[in-house]
Amino acid sequence: MVTDAATGLDLYLPLHGGRSVREIEAGLRALVAGGRLPVGTRLPASRVLASDLGVARNTVGEVYARLAAEGWLQTRVGAGTWVAAVPRPDPSRSPGAQHPAPLDLRGGLVDASDFPHAAWSGHVRRAVAELPSADFGYPDPAGVPALRASLASYLARTRGVVADFDAVVVGSGFGDLLGLIARTLRTRGTRRMAVEEYGHERHRRIIEAAGLQVVPVPVDDEGADVSHLARLDVGGILLTPAHQFPTGVPLSAARRRAVVEWARSSGGLVLEDDYDGEFRYDRRSVGALQALAPDAVVYLGSASKALAPSVGLAWAVVPASLRDDVRAQREVSGGVPSGLHQHALSGFIDAFEYDRAVRRRRARFRARREFFATLLAQRAPQLQIEGLSAGLQCLVGVSDESAEARAVARAHERGVAVDGLSSFRAADPRHTTPTARSTPAGVVVGYGALPPSRVETGLETLVDALAEAVTA
Ligand SMILES: Cc1ncc(COP(=O)(O)O)c(C=O)c1O
Repeated sequence: MVTDAATGLDLYLPLHGGRSVREIEAGLRALVAGGRLPVGTRLPASRVLASDLGVARNTVGEVYARLAAEGWLQTRVGAGTWVAAVPRPDPSRSPGAQHPAPLDLRGGLVDASDFPHAAWSGHVRRAVAELPSADFGYPDPAGVPALRASLASYLARTRGVVADFDAVVVGSGFGDLLGLIARTLRTRGTRRMAVEEYGHERHRRIIEAAGLQVVPVPVDDEGADVSHLARLDVGGILLTPAHQFPTGVPLSAARRRAVVEWARSSGGLVLEDDYDGEFRYDRRSVGALQALAPDAVVYLGSASKALAPSVGLAWAVVPASLRDDVRAQREVSGGVPSGLHQHALSGFIDAFEYDRAVRRRRARFRARREFFATLLAQRAPQLQIEGLSAGLQCLVGVSDESAEARAVARAHERGVAVDGLSSFRAADPRHTTPTARSTPAGVVVGYGALPPSRVETGLETLVDALAEAVTA
């Protein structure tokens, strides 16, 4: 590692073996050619680099001269040595870049063009400028107390969650906390965890990576059919009760009660993924399932939908009986989210900026959903949106999986990226939960990811592709 006091450049030269002119030249050329030293970077003076590498100054001088002769570097006597602008391949000319970027209508994604830059950066700046130096140390593994308190009151106010500050654990994303809870259950002896038959493959893999076997349960128009749980010998179930992902149905009141009864009688745990609980458009918001049984439900949420995934913050509300084990798992999980950003989010929530961000997004997504529903009614009246008026995606039902495959393919041909419902299905749920029903089919349409300027084109193109596919 070389630091040049004049340029401030920290330079790591990957030298394998000796320090001859040829070897130093190859190492430096690799850094420049690979883009790790951007154009315009000023290199250390040959005297400094030579002393750090333990070679003669002339050796470095010769390396610089050779690379300058090849065009990688530029030198001016008395002024120094820079990385020169070298013509590089234009990525827009690569074979894969001939089509315009696809219109991304996949589920579960958000466009962050309305991210509250000013408010968020104000709270980040305040955290950096005003926090006492003690708050720059290692954060509490369960999360910064100020944020846990802000979340406890925000979740109680907006989702009816029963939470005190002690119950809240902060993580860097839903997947982080899902893994944490799954590992905790594993250490307590759980071997198998139920999931909804439809969901993210990544979440199933996270559960498996924690050492648990994933057991899918069927999903119908009342949500997950939890009546299967009693005979599945599982220690927990991951549910999306507010708005099943991606079918869009809410868990019925009877099933909410049934899953709590199962948890109480078996000692099992319910993991409530409230990923889009704030985004309900029909004014009939249903509170969190966790409120029915705070002793048996872990409530999980994240800032990915209301703010952006890159904020990297999520939260769990954990039953008292599990907290010590969750904390112990957190301590060995090797990292916690940035304390400064946790403080920023705490201030952001307490100033009601989070509420404002949710409200803005809710209006935006509701308008997109209504636009999509109107388009479908006009151009493809045989198709309908299924599920609740909520969230960032919806399911358009089709007759069977071959119609689904045709619809997805037609959309792709027109530059629209969507997924079929079958791509979210866990492998072979019918082996574990036999039912007599036919397999549902449909296209999952995420209207959250496109920037506003492309929404109309994207949804219109998709509706035309769907209409064509179902009349083919
Ligand atoms: C079903 C579901 N759960 C949870 C999440 C949130 O995950 P993360 O916090 O990793 O963004 C998402 C995001 O797409 C989701 O679709």
